[in-house]
Amino acid sequence: MTKPRILVARAIFPDIVDRLRQHFEVEANPEDVIWSPAELAARLADKDGAFTTGSQRIDADLLTAAPRLKIVANMAVGYNNFDVDAMTAAGVQGTNTPDVLTETTADFGFALLMATARRMTESEHYLRAGQWTKWSYDMFAGSDIHGSTLGIIGMGRIGQGIAKRGAHGFGMKVVYHNRSRLAANLEAECKATYVSKEELLATADHVMLVVPYSAASHHTIGAAELAQMKPSATLINIARGGIVDDAALAVALRERRIAAAGLDVFEGEPSVHPDLLTVPNVVLTPHIASATVPTRRAMADLAADNLIAFFEGRGALTPVNTPAPEAARAR
Ligand code: DGY
Repeated sequence: MTKPRILVARAIFPDIVDRLRQHFEVEANPEDVIWSPAELAARLADKDGAFTTGSQRIDADLLTAAPRLKIVANMAVGYNNFDVDAMTAAGVQGTNTPDVLTETTADFGFALLMATARRMTESEHYLRAGQWTKWSYDMFAGSDIHGSTLGIIGMGRIGQGIAKRGAHGFGMKVVYHNRSRLAANLEAECKATYVSKEELLATADHVMLVVPYSAASHHTIGAAELAQMKPSATLINIARGGIVDDAALAVALRERRIAAAGLDVFEGEPSVHPDLLTVPNVVLTPHIASATVPTRRAMADLAADNLIAFFEGRGALTPVNTPAPEAARAR
């Protein structure tokens, strides 16, 4: 029996590619070349499945160019690189990697919050540049984490993980805003209070963004929202580029309308708005919130398991859409 053909669109752990080879005819990308949309479409023209990361756009044009494609397994919990409606209409299954990265990503959100509020990278650059010649009473004085108010926008699994760290570990008062309110037991576990976005922005000492990207969440934080925040507040974005208007944020940071920001994701990444590179009061990291070795392995394993389960007829393990059976492409 011929094996289904799959494309592994980015370099991943070699042993996981070997595991995929036991089930599939695999075209891999060990050199980690970034293919253009046209190159990706050409490589998918004869493939039954794809293993992607957040950097490959799966849209109607690509689906037309890849008539055999039946499943795309994203190695990420976020899947805003998928046009889910187009995939569903074309009968193509999409999957993501929830749960396995929740705690690691929540750890990172908290680390970025602490580094930002306590001005860690700014002070390290100062030290490395040989500028530290004497101690002074207000040198790199930042803002407190313990006992402060943490405002979380987007209260899914990762948001809840951050809330628990803040409330239980640091005695923070946690307020949150979400499309829907959490069940009472989850609010109690997180010690979190539901508030409007306006109240959150006006009262939080630290605003943490963990909301998925969609047209509706585009520029959740722009100039108007930044103006509602306290001048002493910090803003942390571990969600997706495009949730924050990066140009407006650079202005707010430069003019000290808010105290500081910590950003792991950017509009148009890996490009970063040039003004963010020159303001001192921002901590910048290259989209690494889920980047620990065990977690990245777990994400890659789950994406691989989704492909294997799907082609074994067991159904996708973590689907993001439900193509109608009559629309599904023949296996
Ligand atoms: C995710 O899983 O969505 C992370 O942002 C990694 O891409």
